[in-house]
Amino acid sequence: EYPEYVKIVEVGPRDGLQNEKEMVPTGVKIQLIDMLSETGLPVIEATSFVSSKWVPQMADHTEVLQAIHRSSHVRYPVLTPNMHGFQDAVAAGATEVAVFGSASETFSRKNINCSIDESILRFEEVICTAKQRQIPVRGYVSCALGCPYEGPIESTKVAEVVKRLYELGCYEVSLGDTIGVGTPGSMAKMLHSVMKEVPSSALAVHCHDTYGQALANILIALQGQHVAMPFCALYTDSSPQDHMSVTAVAKRGPRCSVMGICTVDSSVAGLGGCPYAQGASGNVSTEDVLYMLHGMGIKTGVDLSKVIEAGDFICKALNRKTNSKVAQARGDY
Ligand code: HMG
Ligand code: MG
Repeated sequence: EYPEYVKIVEVGPRDGLQNEKEMVPTGVKIQLIDMLSETGLPVIEATSFVSSKWVPQMADHTEVLQAIHRSSHVRYPVLTPNMHGFQDAVAAGATEVAVFGSASETFSRKNINCSIDESILRFEEVICTAKQRQIPVRGYVSCALGCPYEGPIESTKVAEVVKRLYELGCYEVSLGDTIGVGTPGSMAKMLHSVMKEVPSSALAVHCHDTYGQALANILIALQGQHVAMPFCALYTDSSPQDHMSVTAVAKRGPRCSVMGICTVDSSVAGLGGCPYAQGASGNVSTEDVLYMLHGMGIKTGVDLSKVIEAGDFICKALNRKTNSKVAQARGDY
């Protein structure tokens, strides 16, 4: 069973560009976002309000956010790691923000210079202030399937951090396979733990294609999971009339199926990587995700050809080949 509709969160202008060595001209970033705004994408992460000493590529956040032509059909969240970033973002006109934590202590320190507990305190302040201003806050949990410094991360640890962000008030938490090491097996195991704590409707997956596993991992996330309580009361996969399923449930014990995840993060042309995660090259490409979903009859509302055009534009501007297999197969525009 797959969802009928999947919401695509385009992270190319932020996650895709933050790691570029050469400064990408502000005008190019603005044109990329404007082209993406015409594709039917519902969410485009525009930039991040982080320290320019840490991530110089995002130093033009205010110019970018103020110059883009915002479509009324699109939301434009920006990353805000702390109150400083949040205040700058709001002053620049942000109407949605995202906080980003980690399931790995070491990655948390390398990425945002504080422990997981400290980060939660910072996010709490951001989320409380955002709530007062009716600004929705998304959350990220990095290293959900492995850390570049600590290796494998316990799925219960991931679930704990996701739960904390959700309970603080993030309307959605994105599970980041920051270095793309996950496989369908580890993805299923991690989701099983996370879905015991947080409903799938409040989860997203954020896959990097470093090891070529991203589409397979996304497919697993879209499928329903068999999870133990507490969501059994809400969803049941058996009808008492159906002898076969009653027997199956009796054998399985107190479990039930919950719906799959219906929000997927992706990046146009497969741009990207995290500056604090070596080898995190390449978010899954939006074009490839769309091709898979549309081929399965799943609606996204996004025009694949227009995304390919936007991908072609940014690849020419960066003077490089696209990472999207679909864009490669479709050829030059
Ligand atoms: P810090 O140095 O610990 O901050 O950085 P601080 O509070 O000690 O302040 C030091 C200086 O930074 C001060 O300035 C502050 O004003 C300034 P000074 O007095 O020295 O002149 N400062 C700021 N300036 C601009 N914007 C701010 C800000 N905050 C403080 N928001 C900080 C802490 C979090 C700021 C820093 O570590 C940082 O900017 N990190 C950015 C990390 C980042 O952007 N990583 C990439 C995004 S995460 C990612 O890609 C993963 C994801 O895609 C999911 C996945 O793939 O898994 C989301
Ligand atoms: Mg990322």
